[in-house]
Amino acid sequence: MVPSKGLMSKRKRRLVGGITVGEDEVLIDPWGSSQSTDYERIITQFGLTPLNASTMPNPTKLHRRGIVFAHRDVDQITEAHRTGQAFGVLTGLMPSGQMHLGHSMVIEQAKWFQELGGDVTIAVADLESQATRGVSLEKGRRIALEEYLAHYAALGLDSDKTQVYFQSSRPVVQRLGFQLGKRTNLNEFEAIYGFSGETNLAHVQAPLVQVGDILHPQLDAYGGLRPVVVPVGVDQDPHLRLTRGLAAKTNWFNLKEAPSGGALISLSVHDENATAFGQMPNGRLDREKVNSVFGRVVDVLTSLGFSDILSSPKQGHVRVPSATTRDAHGIRMALLQLERSMGGMGLLAPSSTYHHFAVGMTGDKMSSSQPKTTLFLRDDLATVQKKIKRAFSGGQSTVEEHRRLGGNPDVDVAYQYMMYFFEEDDAFLAELNASFRSGALLAGEMKQHCTEAAERWMKELHEKRDETAHLVDAFLAEDSR
Ligand code: TRP
Repeated sequence: MVPSKGLMSKRKRRLVGGITVGEDEVLIDPWGSSQSTDYERIITQFGLTPLNASTMPNPTKLHRRGIVFAHRDVDQITEAHRTGQAFGVLTGLMPSGQMHLGHSMVIEQAKWFQELGGDVTIAVADLESQATRGVSLEKGRRIALEEYLAHYAALGLDSDKTQVYFQSSRPVVQRLGFQLGKRTNLNEFEAIYGFSGETNLAHVQAPLVQVGDILHPQLDAYGGLRPVVVPVGVDQDPHLRLTRGLAAKTNWFNLKEAPSGGALISLSVHDENATAFGQMPNGRLDREKVNSVFGRVVDVLTSLGFSDILSSPKQGHVRVPSATTRDAHGIRMALLQLERSMGGMGLLAPSSTYHHFAVGMTGDKMSSSQPKTTLFLRDDLATVQKKIKRAFSGGQSTVEEHRRLGGNPDVDVAYQYMMYFFEEDDAFLAELNASFRSGALLAGEMKQHCTEAAERWMKELHEKRDETAHLVDAFLAEDSR
């Protein structure tokens, strides 16, 4: 059994050397301290889609190398990009310690999405950090600015196209979380997060705030209806499952593929829309109202160019035989817009992408609280050198053996860090991989390559950080200045 990032079995929980591992189903605990490499299992169990970098425009090294390995509905985003439609990017940071290399991965992706035309919003999870890590709001703010934003600027994120806000100073985020809380319950939290009677309620509230983080960019005051992608580590997927489920539950119109082909649209009646959908307090239907709702759905479909619209208010649905899966997104967006015009929230389930975690330098999990496991972005060059020198190696124990048996780049920290962070050149990387595997390249030589690349990368980052220090405040949204 592979130790896993906060992976637990749903039924049997067994504590093995401080790591909770499961035997049947996997459960991801976003606050957990173990780390999974069992990505295949995560993909199948949670229904992620493997990411195909070749379908991505101008993919980053993280995409090309399979580090960003899976997604949910990312086509929604690439399609918006292709057709010149607006899309948003939302991600969050936990202000609790120094920024390390691992944290730079979502920023590399946010920057890439930004270059493709997305507007970027970043949540500083100061409420979550206060509740789950005991970091005061003031301290959270300081860490966010001095550690995170200073480095975001240095990493090339464009402050003109980025809005950073604090959970604590954007009430609508909390309100939205509270409001959507109505559509879930403790059973669902138990199923998603493995909560039980002893679970601290901060761990119930934090996900709801995160739901608010993820969905609020779609509100009119924050950019309006558009696809929003959330690039995260796979540990955050539980929050996305929760968010996507909640968004869908609020929708007024269901869109499905009809059994006989084409699109099938039906009404989803709940408290908020009962009146608008013609349900009278006495339990009877206001036929005229129902017909007018169906009329509006037909108008929407007509304006999209369909001419074979079969509206059947009596059966409670509208069918469009000629609609294909390619049309689904456009229909969905138009229905959400209609819902909004009728008083609903009109929320689109967010897209997401997931990245692998780089191994910690010691071979364990990378962690801010264990400086030896990672490079902090403020580490000086001497420290960088020292950490790489001591890093876990995939080489054999003697030169003779290494030449004979070859090394394993998959676990070699020096190689892995070049692949994840420091080396842009795919061909050179492939060469290092092959020669290490064959034994031609020694572990010490790999570390030398890594040290050189890391020093270059860090030196440039530190120079940029000085140059861009004046931009830090420009990242802050108006409500967070
Ligand atoms: N929970 C995230 C973490 O632990 C931080 C976060 C808060 C977040 N809100 C978010 C991440 C929204 C992505 C999207 O790091």
